[in-house]
Amino acid sequence: MAMKRLLVTGGCGFIGSHFVRLMLEREAWRVINLDKLTYAGNLENLRGIDEGEHYRFVRGDIGDRALVDDLYKEERPTAVVNFAAESHVDRSILDSAPFFQTNTIGVQVLLEGGRKYGVERFLQVSTDEVYGDAESREPCDEEYRLAPSSPYAASKAAADLLSLSYKRTYGLPVLIARSCNNYGPFQFPEKLIPLMIRNSMLRKDLPVYGDGMQRREWIYVGDCVDAIRRVLERGDDGAIYNVSTEEEYTNLDVIHLLCELMAGEASMDAASLLKSMQFVADRPGHDRRYATRATKIREKLIWNPLVTFEEGIRKTIRWYLENHEWVERVTSGEYRNYYDAVYVRAWG
Ligand code: NAD
Ligand code: DAU
Repeated sequence: MAMKRLLVTGGCGFIGSHFVRLMLEREAWRVINLDKLTYAGNLENLRGIDEGEHYRFVRGDIGDRALVDDLYKEERPTAVVNFAAESHVDRSILDSAPFFQTNTIGVQVLLEGGRKYGVERFLQVSTDEVYGDAESREPCDEEYRLAPSSPYAASKAAADLLSLSYKRTYGLPVLIARSCNNYGPFQFPEKLIPLMIRNSMLRKDLPVYGDGMQRREWIYVGDCVDAIRRVLERGDDGAIYNVSTEEEYTNLDVIHLLCELMAGEASMDAASLLKSMQFVADRPGHDRRYATRATKIREKLIWNPLVTFEEGIRKTIRWYLENHEWVERVTSGEYRNYYDAVYVRAWG
């Protein structure tokens, strides 16, 4: 039987690289990974995976119409999963232009290719941030209205609406997965959990935005990519699926757990780690809470997250301790300027 061809974009990033590995475990797919290799994309995230019959890497921009058209024409993908994005809220506050270029226009380019070359599944990887701040409401299902707060979230919400319009107007078989906050190996250390781990390793301050009482639902990345695979393979055409553990933690809860487990794993003193917490100026427009219901994916696609928060955090800390060189390499260049822009100049 002919192999199915899967175009994955952003496969060198954090979640995308876990997804590429997962899909290659089953020999049913040829995976074509299109990635621009921005600061967040790293070939090392896929070390050990060689190009060949099952895997091809293409360096390029999802917004590059000619390149994307050629790739569709050449590979004729059966399905597309779009992870490629500018993904960090703080960066979208500093400069929103690349967010709309990639997260919105880039998606339009991919959707056009999907329509022209007749893909059988187009999965847009979205986020729970499109629903906006959940501070004064119950956890929401997939029908809830969109009310994004940050430029990042607005660029993702625009892509969701665009994708749904391609379903209705052209009949493109679109699926959308809206996940809560991921954590785990290979996450770029600009996000809360890897930033706190790296700063602890370097004995630097742990910057807490505002009062630290903002709440997020956290999912181990392995559970998230398993959910995305199920949506791709068995989701209903045109459907949206929330992906969530439905377990909320405040940022202070997360940092306390990190300090406690870090102390055990790295033979450090938990009390002095906790003392390095610094309350800093809040992120502008900061959402206090995200809260979604994942009943649909649990019941319809028989998915459940398997990794508990404590187990996942422990695995993550161990990975960062064992991969200190990866952390050093990805933070050696542009990261320094970014860090100063957010923590020294803008918010500091
Ligand atoms: P990431 O920032 O780690 O990786 C993004 C990847 O996309 C990188 O490899 C980068 O090189 C690539 N990329 C960026 N712009 C590109 C372009 N124009 N063309 C081609 N490639 C490009 O992101 P992540 O955290 O892995 O997130 C992946 C997706 O999941 C994003 O769409 C994000 O919005 C969504 N998401 C993330 C989370 C989370 O907690 N990290 C939660 C929900 C949804
Ligand atoms: O909810 C899903 C979203 O989760 C994804 O769509 C985004 O791509 C992803 O970046 C993430 O967004 P958040 O803004 O929630 O994640 P971040 O790790 O940046 O921040 C988590 C919380 O921690 C948030 O309340 C801000 C706070 N924070 C973050 C950093 C980096 C701090 O207090 N200090 C920090 O230094």
